[in-house]
Amino acid sequence: MQVLVLGAAAGGGFPQWNCNCTLCHGVRQGSIEARPRTQSSIAISSDGERWLLCNASPDIRSQLASNPELHPRRVPRDSGIAGALLVDGQIDHATGLLSLREGCPLDVWCTPNVHQDLSSGFPLFTMLKHWQGGLVWHPIAVDGEHLEATFEVPACPGLTFTALSLTSNAPPYSPRRGAPTPGDNIGLLIEDRRRGTTLFYAPGLGELDDRVRGFLRRADCVLVDGTLWRDDELLRAGVGQATGRDMGHLALSGEQGLLAELAALPATTRRVLIHINNTNPILDEGSQERATLIHQGVEVAFDGLRLDV
Ligand code: MLT
Ligand code: MN
Ligand code: ZN
Repeated sequence: MQVLVLGAAAGGGFPQWNCNCTLCHGVRQGSIEARPRTQSSIAISSDGERWLLCNASPDIRSQLASNPELHPRRVPRDSGIAGALLVDGQIDHATGLLSLREGCPLDVWCTPNVHQDLSSGFPLFTMLKHWQGGLVWHPIAVDGEHLEATFEVPACPGLTFTALSLTSNAPPYSPRRGAPTPGDNIGLLIEDRRRGTTLFYAPGLGELDDRVRGFLRRADCVLVDGTLWRDDELLRAGVGQATGRDMGHLALSGEQGLLAELAALPATTRRVLIHINNTNPILDEGSQERATLIHQGVEVAFDGLRLDV
């Protein structure tokens, strides 16, 4: 399978429009070595022609423009995007659907919890009904009774998708904010049956247990939550009160951090971080934290990164 990283930053992007933290300021001024990044989204394909968008970011217009694989090619109205899949209902992962309205009807895969939030608190499904049939919901059956669901996406022949419930958080406009239930956040294990290879994708990972560790271990490549270096990073930077725990993102550093989990994976696993928040020092390529990642063989995704899995 081929993977295009369309946007590697967390909500807000890098730099964030109203943020004057050291990193946002530094990248604007060119005083640190760092690349700007747009908000969290990837695209996946098994044939290089038809792409499944995994999360639709508010930055989708520039992301599509930057990736020729996704441009229209065959008929007057066309796109390389054959459908969209959402791992949660957050603004940074769902808002781009509004910008795809000219291409409705559009097939969208998400869980019942996400469909409910996107039909009420942030009613994208309801609004887009007014555009040529709107969003065509394909339920991913992860809920209180089913922690995992396996399915196929017609535009991606040869790929098997397994969605697994993850503990993170529901969006602020969800009735389950602060008390998420299975289906508010999923990760994806995507197997390429022809190649015998597997990708694990989870931009929002608040907690790991042995079930989730088992999925990580099955993957040749993991593309996982790099939101924060420290749990209290926003407070320290003076830009917010929320901790990683509040938001549902496990910090990278520390004995119980995500880096320690990645270090326990087989030596052959390719490890890539995505959904990087603008306060995270790993964005500065000259930082000590970035050197630590290099030493541990962990990559930091950037816009335009291509993975061949
Ligand atoms: C998250 O990943 O926690 C959210 O997308 C944060 C946000 O942008 O509101
Ligand atoms: Mn996010
Ligand atoms: Zn910032």
